Amino acid sequence: MADARIFKDLKADHDRHRDMLARLGETQGDSPERRELFEALRRELQAHAAAEEEALYATMLADPDLRDEARHSVSEHKEIDDFLGELLDIDMGSGAWLMKFKDMRHRYLHHIDEEEEEMFPTAAKSLSAEAEREIARTFEKRKPKELALAAEQKPGDERD
Ligand SMILES: [Fe+2]
Ligand SMILES: [Fe+2]
Repeated sequence: MADARIFKDLKADHDRHRDMLARLGETQGDSPERRELFEALRRELQAHAAAEEEALYATMLADPDLRDEARHSVSEHKEIDDFLGELLDIDMGSGAWLMKFKDMRHRYLHHIDEEEEEMFPTAAKSLSAEAEREIARTFEKRKPKELALAAEQKPGDERD
């Protein structure tokens, strides 16, 4: 069911991301506000993508009917991770940083809109209620752990 708990969890995260992306776009130059908000966003996006992969996309990848959708999303996670890594390497006060940020924001908003409009409804049609409950349990358990890991791991870092 498209209104199962897992999809509500994921949508709640996405709404938080939309809000953070909008607020970050209002910050000016190399300011404490921009630094703090970007660091919070970086951790949140890394942790969300990792927990989403461990919960929903791991299950979808194992299902031949859902595999292509899952691969598409996972490849976009990699693209966003690369953007975050590039943003860390650019002077935050520069026009180049703001341009790259806006590029990343556009791509990410497209990604989460597509998940909500295509991936989640497609998954909801195939998954049993029990599978959805299990995915929600995994996501809710992994998300806080992934947030703690993201504090230590920059984008693109290899896992031990
Ligand atoms: Fe995603
Ligand atoms: Fe997502």
